Amino acid sequence: MDPPVTDNVYLPKIAVLDRVVDEIQDVKTFHWHFEDAREQETFMRFRPGQFVQVSLFGAGEMPLSLPPSPTEGKTFFTVRRVGSCTAALHDLRPGEKFGVRGPYGNGFPMEAFSGKNLVFVAGGIGLIPLRSCIMYALAHRESYGRIQIFLGARTPKDLMYRDNLREWEEAAGVECHLTVDRGEDGWTGNVGVVGSLFKKEGVRVPVENTVAFVCGPPVMFRFVIRDLSGMGIAEENIVSTLERYMKCGVGKCGHCCIGVAYVCVDGPVFTYRQIKKLGEDI
Ligand SMILES: Cc1cc2nc3c(=O)[nH]c(=O)nc-3n(C[C@H](O)[C@H](O)[C@H](O)COP(=O)(O)OP(=O)(O)OC[C@H]3O[C@@H](n4cnc5c(N)ncnc54)[C@H](O)[C@@H]3O)c2cc1C
Ligand code: FES
Repeated sequence: MDPPVTDNVYLPKIAVLDRVVDEIQDVKTFHWHFEDAREQETFMRFRPGQFVQVSLFGAGEMPLSLPPSPTEGKTFFTVRRVGSCTAALHDLRPGEKFGVRGPYGNGFPMEAFSGKNLVFVAGGIGLIPLRSCIMYALAHRESYGRIQIFLGARTPKDLMYRDNLREWEEAAGVECHLTVDRGEDGWTGNVGVVGSLFKKEGVRVPVENTVAFVCGPPVMFRFVIRDLSGMGIAEENIVSTLERYMKCGVGKCGHCCIGVAYVCVDGPVFTYRQIKKLGEDI
């Protein structure tokens, strides 16, 4: 007997767009919910760092990270408009529908990091996947040691999640440092690349018992890795996400393979040691 059609892994669940928030130029946050409330409840078991396949009817399907932490009870994406699928999402109006399947991928093993110091380093939209981990860590504050957040953007206008940035800057037990490549009138914060924050007076990145989360453009990634390694943080204690073209998202089609690794199921979260072993140049 044929399996019921609901067992088809490629069949998306219907989601409804609730509201859209402008973040920075070409980047918006889309709040949504599943049409079927039971799907919403099941979905909320996702892990920080996992992703979903999102279908825009008539345009196509694309992988997107989940920036909320499951502890927030919210579902949203933050998306840069680059091509046809992202444009179709940007053009949706509240009340309109799209498809979601997932969550997929390994995600960050936040429970395994219990008791460790967490250092988050993000450049630009690299904050999207790390936002989930930061919110998760803050919701389980007692489970972790020191929490440091280092964020870089091109200009003050390119800083995303401004409400969260304010919360993190003011939160007890969190050290949040911001920098921009180019300051503008009214900006009184640091100017320089994100790595320049490590050398700021009063900043000391803990090296022992630390996990560093690094996400951002390749050039930033390379320099930050050099800085963190120079401080003595081991390659297996640096974690990041890899972005690859994906089709199925479930280890079937081979589109996302790097050597022996399927980024969609073995990743997208990898340690820097694993990334180097895969021969990946990011
Ligand atoms: C696991 C994962 C999570 C992602 N999370 C997010 C997210 O949270 N927010 C977000 O804005 N984007 C995210 N992306 C990237 C997003 O999937 C692509 O931007 C999207 O598929 C582009 O589709 P499009 O039809 O709009 O553009 P296309 O017409 O397909 O492409 C437009 C341009 O984007 C480039 N591009 C397309 N896909 C990728 C990709 N996977 N990696 C690098 N370059 C690509 C193309 O080379 C082309 O230059 C993620 C990708 C992966 C693999
Ligand atoms: S996207 Fe198909 S195998 Fe990974």
